[in-house]
Amino acid sequence: MTQCESGSAPAVVLAAAALLLVMANAPPAHAIGLKMPSYITACKKNDPNLNECVVKAGRNAIPHFINGDRKYKIPNLNPLTVYDFKVSQGTRSVGLKIHMKEATVLGLPELVFESAKVDLKKRHIEWNLKGETISITGIYNVTGNVLILPITGQGPANITLKNCAFNYTFDYDLKKQSDGKDYMKITNSNLKFDTTRVYVRLENLFNGDKLLGENMNRFINENWREVTQEIGPTIAGAVAEVFHQILTNISDLVPWEYAYV
Ligand SMILES: *[C@@H]1O[C@H](CO)[C@@H](O)[C@H](O)[C@H]1NC(C)=O
Ligand SMILES: *[C@@H]1O[C@H](CO)[C@@H](O)[C@H](O)[C@H]1NC(C)=O
Ligand SMILES: *[C@@H]1O[C@H](CO)[C@@H](O)[C@H](O)[C@H]1NC(C)=O
Ligand SMILES: *[C@@H]1O[C@H](CO)[C@@H](O)[C@H](O)[C@H]1NC(C)=O
Repeated sequence: MTQCESGSAPAVVLAAAALLLVMANAPPAHAIGLKMPSYITACKKNDPNLNECVVKAGRNAIPHFINGDRKYKIPNLNPLTVYDFKVSQGTRSVGLKIHMKEATVLGLPELVFESAKVDLKKRHIEWNLKGETISITGIYNVTGNVLILPITGQGPANITLKNCAFNYTFDYDLKKQSDGKDYMKITNSNLKFDTTRVYVRLENLFNGDKLLGENMNRFINENWREVTQEIGPTIAGAVAEVFHQILTNISDLVPWEYAYV
């Protein structure tokens, strides 16, 4: 397995995690005071099996929000579109810059919510999700170096991860809003992922030079482990940011007391 940690990882994972978080946990903030979505069963604060309750509620809810829920500002996750997806690594002279105006993340509906650890005292939550296949596709624009080799090009990209395990953790505070109710505010979040294989396909590298392009694709795939270690954390960071946004949006709408009753 290859591990990546930090801001976040695959966009897909992040998106899925964000959704799950939102649903299972409930949320926070603008004094709008929406009730929990009807498809989410709130868990009892003092439930001795709180973790199991959250997982069950999350699993039941996923099919109901996977296509988005405008009322709760949950974007469509089937697939998820990540706008302005940027990965940059290293210094300007030797670094790598990847940009996708619109990245599509496929495979989120097949994610399985494996387990959760909810610590209401420490205000710390952990979600573990698994997915067999997650693909990120879109029109890429790349410049810089992959490991030691210079790379440049723009065209269709397909980055596919097999057997992914995602671990999303976050800390939160409760902030009272004008309606006198507490809303969740995320103070810290982290996304880690493991995968058994990453497949990368970048069309039209080097201005369409077939030989150079095929060689580079082969090089990346033969060295997928090292490449993933190098750029995985930044990708995770970008994805984590999307999750954070989704969660924050939901948290601002639903008072905490409706999430854990
Ligand atoms: C790719 O990046 C180059 C250099 O920054 C820029 O000139 C070009 O417009 C970009 N293309 C796309 C499709 O984003
Ligand atoms: C992306 O690549 C994977 C693995 O090579 C493949 O199974 C999948 O169909 C591709 N997805 C798209 C949208 O081309
Ligand atoms: C998830 O991450 C947290 C924080 O690093 C760690 O304590 C926990 O063991 C991880 N869980 C899994 C299932 O990897
Ligand atoms: C969060 O809400 C804002 C304001 O409605 C919206 O512009 C943004 O796209 C939402 N973020 C996500 C990740 O859905």
